[in-house]
Amino acid sequence: MHVIGRLTAWVAVITLAPIALLARQIATQPPDGMSRGRAVFERACSSCHIGDDPDAPSPDELRGRSPQAILDSLTSGAMKYQGLALSGDQRRAVAEFITGRRVRGTVSGATAGMCAARRTPLGDPFAAAFWNGWGAALENTHFQPAEKGGVTAADLPRLRLKWAFGFPDTTSAWAQPAIAGGRVFIGSQNGTVYSLDAATGCIVWTFTAQGGVRAAISIGARRRSARAAGYAAYVADQQGFVYALDAASGRMLWTKKVDDHPLVRLTGSPALYDGRLYVPTSSYEEGGRPPGYACCTFRGSVAALDAETGTLVWKSYTIRDAPALLRAFADGSELRGPAGGAIWSAPTIDVKRREALSPGAKVLIGLGAGAAAVFVGLLIAVAAISD
Ligand code: HEC
Repeated sequence: MHVIGRLTAWVAVITLAPIALLARQIATQPPDGMSRGRAVFERACSSCHIGDDPDAPSPDELRGRSPQAILDSLTSGAMKYQGLALSGDQRRAVAEFITGRRVRGTVSGATAGMCAARRTPLGDPFAAAFWNGWGAALENTHFQPAEKGGVTAADLPRLRLKWAFGFPDTTSAWAQPAIAGGRVFIGSQNGTVYSLDAATGCIVWTFTAQGGVRAAISIGARRRSARAAGYAAYVADQQGFVYALDAASGRMLWTKKVDDHPLVRLTGSPALYDGRLYVPTSSYEEGGRPPGYACCTFRGSVAALDAETGTLVWKSYTIRDAPALLRAFADGSELRGPAGGAIWSAPTIDVKRREALSPGAKVLIGLGAGAAAVFVGLLIAVAAISD
């Protein structure tokens, strides 16, 4: 009996050991979807939903909803401002965390509609008709010469739908497509960037950005070496990240966060000129501020990046002075400034003047309004920055 008792104890030790090991492995593994969702909830939702705001339904009240209903609320419903600052991945993770149930499909929705493996390679983007970036030209003229456009007034009544493409997990198709080399390049509200075959609408590749992609995508030739030949697609997202992707495959070449402000967003399309990428910054300070936020601290800027490496060459703010504390109130809230001068639109490059005044390109930018609470005057203007 005694011997058997000892034996059982040994068996118990032997079987427990691997369980303990497994537990350690689980603890050191990267967080799964649910703990990512918990992290998003704690950072972006809990201040109201487990706390200060009596109108915000508690997590228990939300649990019975479908994950799709939570997603809909974050993209188009009562929570669309809160959802704006999250990527599609984060919205799905938080919806799954709240409901304890999985969202169907994938974030890119690219399980259907992929192109067949054999497809025409990416051609020279600028050999035939194209629409690059926001303005179609560095001067943002939005002009297509007749020989490139190929559509006459008489053709218009005869145009027919050729194909349609639906964006998953979104309520707005908010980005302007870029068209080059027989492909369409377009970002989506849920952070997926698509390259589509312009003739058929099938998906050539997808890329998942950290935030929604609203700015039009700029395409440009890569320069460095023979190995770095080909074309890059430059993408800016709603969390302040810029990406250079290989235009043919969607592979990421580099990424750079152009501003560390917590409410930064990039709505203006990056403009590419002479090896530099000019990226305008704006923010959520004008809407979607968290409760108790000490407003306002965001200054609009243009960042000039090396298009080949993403290295910051220079950054120029629309407001010279950095924001500071202006007033502290008895209830603990604060007034900060100066702030504002967000740049919501794509910069225009004045090539002529660069040539006349060499060196230095002129980057013309349209400025948005100053953020609420602290105005530096209403900044609605056009400014010029020399490279
Ligand atoms: C600034 C406070 C605040 C924050 C932050 C916030 N919520 Fe809410 N939320 C509310 C309030 C208030 C309501 C009730 C609004 C209403 O009924 O119009 C609400 C309602 C909701 C609803 C129900 C919406 C409906 O249509 O019935 C969902 C779902 C929700 N929130 C999810 C979230 C998630 C997920 C986050 C984090 C990403 C979040 N909320 C962040 C305040 C907040």
